[in-house]
Amino acid sequence: MTRKANQPFVRNAWYIAAWAEEIDNGLLARTIMNEPIVIYRDADGNVGALEDRCCHRGAPLTHGAVTDVGLQCGYHGLTFDTKGNCVDIPGQKNIPPQAHVRHFPLVERNQILWIWMGDPALADESQIVDYPYHDDPVKWPHRKAMFQIKSNYMLMIDNLMDLTHLGYVHGRTIGGNPLQHVGADMDSHKTEKGAYFIRWMLEHDPPPTYQKGGKFTGKVDR
Ligand code: FES
Ligand SMILES: [Fe+2]
Repeated sequence: MTRKANQPFVRNAWYIAAWAEEIDNGLLARTIMNEPIVIYRDADGNVGALEDRCCHRGAPLTHGAVTDVGLQCGYHGLTFDTKGNCVDIPGQKNIPPQAHVRHFPLVERNQILWIWMGDPALADESQIVDYPYHDDPVKWPHRKAMFQIKSNYMLMIDNLMDLTHLGYVHGRTIGGNPLQHVGADMDSHKTEKGAYFIRWMLEHDPPPTYQKGGKFTGKVDR
């Protein structure tokens, strides 16, 4: 189900564009909100997200390469910094001001690259959610992955907000006893910019995956 009529993108918000490690080996091409984006890290370690279309002849910048001064287009060699400014044109000193590729605010934090697809003037980094656990793999061992899901993104949101399926669909893994899910303490209300939701299941048996992975015994709160 991918009908465009069903895709009212919320643009003025921070989204996870990629894991930082995904650009370790150079460029990353990713389509976000139906827009082709190239994400890269420059020689100084700064990250940038640009429209994946060179302002010269429209070549996808993901066919280029990262040089000492920026992302070099693979067609005629124009090079762009992480803000989309052209910083080098082979064979000429004059760089016209219109030599600029659209760029999107991109913030690297806790191993995540957060992108803002809306009005850049509204991109407030203080609104980005902190995930400090990613920076402490010894205390919080974890693995990262990116799943591509061939469906309308709203079905995925719907699935993740519907926790009552856990005890049934995932009963033998992360779910556990379905009746304990039904009896969870929940609080949800609207906030200025969205919604607040908290859900507690207190003093209950850890589900099978917790028992196996975390070696939990006795009762847990979650
Ligand atoms: S199309 Fe990129 S330099 Fe010409
Ligand atoms: Fe599920």
